[in-house]
Amino acid sequence: MKALQIVKYGAIKDSLSINEVKKPAIKPNDILVEVKAASINPIDYKLVEGHLKDMISLKFPSTIGYDVSGVVAEKGTDVINFEIGDEVYSRVPQEQMGTLAEYVAVNYKVVAKKPKNSSFEEAAALPLTGLTAMQALESVGIKENDRILIHAGSGGVGSFAIQYAKAKGAIVYTTTSSKNVDWVKALGADRVIDYKTEDYKEVAKNLDIVFDTLGKDYTFDAFEIIKEGGRVATIVGPPDEETAKQMGMSDYKLPEKLSKLIEKKSATYKLTWMQPNAEQLNTIKTLVENGAIKPVIDFIYSLEDAVDAYEYLATGKAKGKVIISLS
Ligand SMILES: NC(=O)c1ccc[n+]([C@@H]2O[C@H](COP(=O)([O-])OP(=O)(O)OC[C@H]3O[C@@H](n4cnc5c(N)ncnc54)[C@H](OP(=O)(O)O)[C@@H]3O)[C@@H](O)[C@H]2O)c1
Repeated sequence: MKALQIVKYGAIKDSLSINEVKKPAIKPNDILVEVKAASINPIDYKLVEGHLKDMISLKFPSTIGYDVSGVVAEKGTDVINFEIGDEVYSRVPQEQMGTLAEYVAVNYKVVAKKPKNSSFEEAAALPLTGLTAMQALESVGIKENDRILIHAGSGGVGSFAIQYAKAKGAIVYTTTSSKNVDWVKALGADRVIDYKTEDYKEVAKNLDIVFDTLGKDYTFDAFEIIKEGGRVATIVGPPDEETAKQMGMSDYKLPEKLSKLIEKKSATYKLTWMQPNAEQLNTIKTLVENGAIKPVIDFIYSLEDAVDAYEYLATGKAKGKVIISLS
């Protein structure tokens, strides 16, 4: 079968190659998914460029990709609740990475049936970004009437997070650049802040929650605009100490600057490192089938053009999700 593989660390175009490889063998708990569509994520090119070497060790060549939708082609002896021919979607676990291929083996415990009203391309857009947004917003207890700022509302994570926060009854502020303002507003955001012409800190103040998808100064500046006792959920900032422990960083100490900001505002600060989760994929399926959440797709590429797809995603300018279709 064909697969897009990371062959070494380095620049995207020098380090990815479409290779002919063996179809994966399944273990008793695995489903073999015939891949119809995959989506790509910033973590993929960060891996290729070697930025995650210390956290995720790769053997070369390694098939790339975490998000998949497709059809159950084979199932292991211990698999329950799935039949051959079922249409499914998943964010595959690290050890099963490799969705940019004709087939991928996935533990059935992180697989769910895909939303009935979604195409394979739409379903592939959802798992990693959807689970990230849900887990991050739930980690700080998002609830009705919370006033939340979601950074980068036009990104893969942000475009899902806006819709999820609205489904929870929150009042949503979000940032993006001028060209994206109209379609991001149409996702349901109450106030879209054009970062090219407005200072978000002047518009969004006294918030219950900031969802930090940008990192660096944005993480620290979140504390300026939350109210006393507010919450900061990050997916790119430094780990909080509890999450660091779960990630195996036993000697980790929160940076002093962050500790002081948390203390000054009596704030909650939480890093989410997304985990595959079939139950939450089932919740996403329901939200999509109810019309509360619509997948947002920017471009659909073929597997042959997947390197171009990664170069586009790495510009940081994608509008929603970039998809690889194998149908
Ligand atoms: N911790 C985890 O488990 C986890 C999970 C998923 C993702 N992540 C990380 O979260 C980040 C976001 O992921 P993603 O998939 O959403 O990325 P993405 O889809 O590539 O984000 C692109 C979007 O970011 C917007 N953007 C860039 N700079 C901005 C700024 N200064 N202000 C507002 N918007 C800005 C761009 O809009 P404009 O073109 O208008 O600038 C573009 O639409 C990545 O760093 C990713 O690695 C972490």
